[in-house]
Amino acid sequence: MITLRSVLYILAFALFIYGLMGLTGPRTAVRGNAIAAAGMVVAVVATLLTPGLSNWGLIVFGLVVGTVIGVPAARRVKMTAMPQMVALFNGVGGGAVALTAWVEFRDSAGFQGEPAFVPIATLFAAIIGSISFWGSLVAFGKLQELVPGRPISVGRLQLPLNVLLLVGAVVCAVAIGLGSGAELLLVAVLVLAGLAGIAVVLPIGGADMPVVVSLLNAFTGLSAAAAGLALSNTAMIVAGMLVGASGSILTDQMAKAMNRSIPSIVAGGFGGTASSAPVTSSGTVRSIGAADVAIQLAYAGQVIVVPGYGMAVAQAQHAVQDMAKLLVDRGVGVSYAIHPVAGRMPGHMNVLLAEADVPYEQLKEMDEINDEFARTDVALVIGANDVTNPAARTDPNSPIYGMPILNVDQAKAVIVLKRSMRAGFAGVDNPLYTDPRTAMLFGDAKSSVREVVEELKAL
Ligand code: TAP
Repeated sequence: MITLRSVLYILAFALFIYGLMGLTGPRTAVRGNAIAAAGMVVAVVATLLTPGLSNWGLIVFGLVVGTVIGVPAARRVKMTAMPQMVALFNGVGGGAVALTAWVEFRDSAGFQGEPAFVPIATLFAAIIGSISFWGSLVAFGKLQELVPGRPISVGRLQLPLNVLLLVGAVVCAVAIGLGSGAELLLVAVLVLAGLAGIAVVLPIGGADMPVVVSLLNAFTGLSAAAAGLALSNTAMIVAGMLVGASGSILTDQMAKAMNRSIPSIVAGGFGGTASSAPVTSSGTVRSIGAADVAIQLAYAGQVIVVPGYGMAVAQAQHAVQDMAKLLVDRGVGVSYAIHPVAGRMPGHMNVLLAEADVPYEQLKEMDEINDEFARTDVALVIGANDVTNPAARTDPNSPIYGMPILNVDQAKAVIVLKRSMRAGFAGVDNPLYTDPRTAMLFGDAKSSVREVVEELKAL
């Protein structure tokens, strides 16, 4: 029978899908996000129209708590802290699914009289939801530096331990599925799966956390879809599958852009101590002042700006846009080379540069611009490191060997803005810095770019 609820659900699904489509480009992303959020409001209203719903006091209390915590947190979060925010919000979703599974178990007195698919889907949701909740909390802790970012493991025993915890959770779930109504078994499922989530994420280096967050996000979607199946709630199935599918695609794309396989990321041990790792290479580093940078840029025909994580840390995007405007006014061609994993989250550079009103036509994806470096007078690297590292092309022993990089080293001249000779995220040496064509302008990216802007104005 067609009810108002089912019509609202269909409307919500259409809005989710339409909103997701908007997220494919920077121009439509903000609108896409708003459309998907509107879809979620419609889905919540439809759910509140479920016949026989009671406990209105609790429902309103939940909505108020969620709003009071969620809205200010989302408004205040810095762009560089977005991955941990996503980890936290995603983890809460997994936790909610795990708790829903527990409630379902209690309501049906251990799934008495339920068709087989109900306990199977609910127990699957309990395991995956709990893994996702606890794993996401660890990911949040690492990204927020509450937990050390370096890999933490028990060495060779790690894999057997992970398998043991997971198998333990599955055995308890099977016992419930076979008819045991003991609530302690369900608690054991949640605890063992939660410990498995912690044990899997702790050995992964802080550097790989954004990929892990995306993977756990996909897990949360799957667990929500399974819970929706058990509760016969189409909204949960559709929204869960959309999250599961988009999270899986994102994880795959991030892993590919870093030339890593998902199993090797989950196996852990890569990165995490990068920011403090010193550069070990020998070779002469040429330092340059802001005045010389300004002259070189002002008299160039073509400049490619290569932004990276350091630009995000320094919040230098507005200063960079001011500088680019001055250059364009002088007749210099300016474009921005965007590496797919520059920064710490997908689209990080696009978001920052869009915020600074950089014209979209100037933003070029890696494949589109890589051939242009050889014809470019100056490649201006602003707080980027790994994504410019030629060792990824030339040194088979480098941990980042095989990662596609921007061909910065092929430009006629390279200027790198960073604070020191410290390594980037992957913790590896960058031979670009000792290349005779490279000059380094040391300092915080925002201050350095501002100095260059002043010098350009004075020319
Ligand atoms: P990184 O390789 O991390 O290098 C950033 C550089 O910025 C550092 O070497 C640092 O050098 C410099 N820096 C930091 N703060 C600065 C400031 N205030 N002013 C000026 N410079 C500053 O960044 P990248 O080239 O963007 O590469 C991204 C890395 O993150 C890749 O290895 C990628 O695989 C990884 N990763 C990315 C993602 C996504 S989805 N984007 C997800 C996971 C991992 P100093 O300390 O000397 O200043």
